[in-house]
Amino acid sequence: MVDTFLNGDYYNGAEARVSIEDRGFLFGDGIYEVIRFYHGSFFELGQHLSRLARSARKTYLDLPNSLEQIDSICHELLKKSGIKEGKLYLQVTRGAAPRTHEFPVQSEPTIMMKISKVDEEEQKKKKKGVSAITVPDDRWSNCDIKSLNLLPNVLAKQKARSQGYYEAIFVFSEKITEGASSNVFAVLDGVLVTAPECNRILSGITRNVVLELASQVGIPWEEKFVSNDDLYRASELFITSTVDEITPILSIDGQTLNGSAVGKVSAKIQNRFQQKVSQLG
Ligand code: PDD
Repeated sequence: MVDTFLNGDYYNGAEARVSIEDRGFLFGDGIYEVIRFYHGSFFELGQHLSRLARSARKTYLDLPNSLEQIDSICHELLKKSGIKEGKLYLQVTRGAAPRTHEFPVQSEPTIMMKISKVDEEEQKKKKKGVSAITVPDDRWSNCDIKSLNLLPNVLAKQKARSQGYYEAIFVFSEKITEGASSNVFAVLDGVLVTAPECNRILSGITRNVVLELASQVGIPWEEKFVSNDDLYRASELFITSTVDEITPILSIDGQTLNGSAVGKVSAKIQNRFQQKVSQLG
């Protein structure tokens, strides 16, 4: 099955090869996107590609193709794969070159895309709520770049999963920044609150969509940091991402929220999100 694009060619993923000198492999010197598609149509592809271009600018990486070309490759790959419900992983690195920390004088960027299915049962289960723990945010100060350097996120997620929690929520200077692979929303005194766009969070595409949906249904919202104390007194909490969509958090650090039930605001946003998705295809 064709599910992969690499530097101009389409492959069955198992057959695609990159150099051991690729700077993505050696340094994590690259950027990425994860894009969902539903019923054979991409969800917010334009926003993902704009963010890719921004990450490329911020890391002085020349994309090997124009955004229009990348857009058509995404569509071509999706068509070739024949998959209707899934996600596309897109990665661009600074390419292969003898190992030096500074940028190589000459290297061709590596562009790779891979399509995979999502586990529909798992998706359904998550919508009923999960648990999370807080962890210190020990990442760098460029979290707004969707960079391949994810070791702190990997370690945080592993800490959560190894203790039976679903997500790790980062706390920086007593403020909630985001999840290991998600943005965090809290309902405080009836207002939906999420961290402001800044260098401490990745501005999630799902986060943008949620704020748009909240406006549409008249849920008041505010972009401001939630303190870690406020987290425990929130009436509702949820995380958002391309993969997690809108996933309620029903317990945080072992403390249950909203009697372990999905709250009204979360359910309303989940509903509107589902409606938006069902219009695709
Ligand atoms: N991660 N914050 C972080 C640190 C993330 O890794 C992600 C997504 C988000 C949410 O962004 P979006 O809504 O655009 O998916 C926020 C992807 C899914 C991943 O790394 O697999």
